[in-house]
Amino acid sequence: MSRPIAALEGVSRRFHEGRRERWVLNGVDLEVAAGERLALAGASGSGKSTLLNLLGGIDRPDSGRVRLDGTDLSGLSEHRRTLFRRRRIGFVYQFFNLIPTLSVRENVALPLELIGQDLGPADALLEQVGLLERAEAFPDVLSGGEQQRVALARALVHRPALVLADEPTGNLDARHGGAVLDLLAELAREQGAALVIVTHSKAVSQRCERVLSLEDGRLSRGGGAGW
Ligand SMILES: Nc1ncnc2c1ncn2[C@@H]1O[C@H](COP(=O)(O)OP(=O)(O)OP(=O)(O)O)[C@@H](O)[C@H]1O
Ligand SMILES: [Mg+2]
Repeated sequence: MSRPIAALEGVSRRFHEGRRERWVLNGVDLEVAAGERLALAGASGSGKSTLLNLLGGIDRPDSGRVRLDGTDLSGLSEHRRTLFRRRRIGFVYQFFNLIPTLSVRENVALPLELIGQDLGPADALLEQVGLLERAEAFPDVLSGGEQQRVALARALVHRPALVLADEPTGNLDARHGGAVLDLLAELAREQGAALVIVTHSKAVSQRCERVLSLEDGRLSRGGGAGW
């Protein structure tokens, strides 16, 4: 494998519940190759979102290392980590997380604004997701599928190396979910971005080159029990 775009090395993460400690991730190793599509399965509460937040530098491990593009994130200050994340990562969430007070165009342009880049690509991405004519609209007048397409444009507008999608189709019906997923895969492929998708759906993981599942704090190959 060429140099991984992202890697977890012996990563553990625990949370406290009252006086008890719960190890959600326990010595997880993972390499994400540049441009690959990886599906991440596992029961509710198994730590999928936790893993994604670590990969994206939103959260820090209790032990182990997280590398992005060769840089060890644990060695960076919170501020540097944020700057790094803004340039290199795109996020897509289950509930779209668009900013209601910003227009569609402003939502998509936000990642560019945060890193001080020209806002031109926002309209190009909106065109790619078929929503340029809705650029002036506010998110609340769009359908769920449309909102998620705006979120895809926002996740890719700054050409991140890694796109992290946390159940991106979980809030859409099968038809719209499938369309959003195909679009996400197409945009990522076009840009050469790696894609890590958390999903409960077999249809989603079938579009990925690799499926891993989380159970008892560890990663294993395949979609896990019942797949
Ligand atoms: N900030 C936190 N503080 C305390 N516990 C947390 C925190 N974040 C996550 N957890 C716990 O860690 C476990 C894993 O959570 P996580 O959100 O990663 O699961 P998940 O696999 O994404 O589940 P789902 O499929 O329901 O989204 C859960 O038991 C959760 O309660
Ligand atoms: Mg989750």
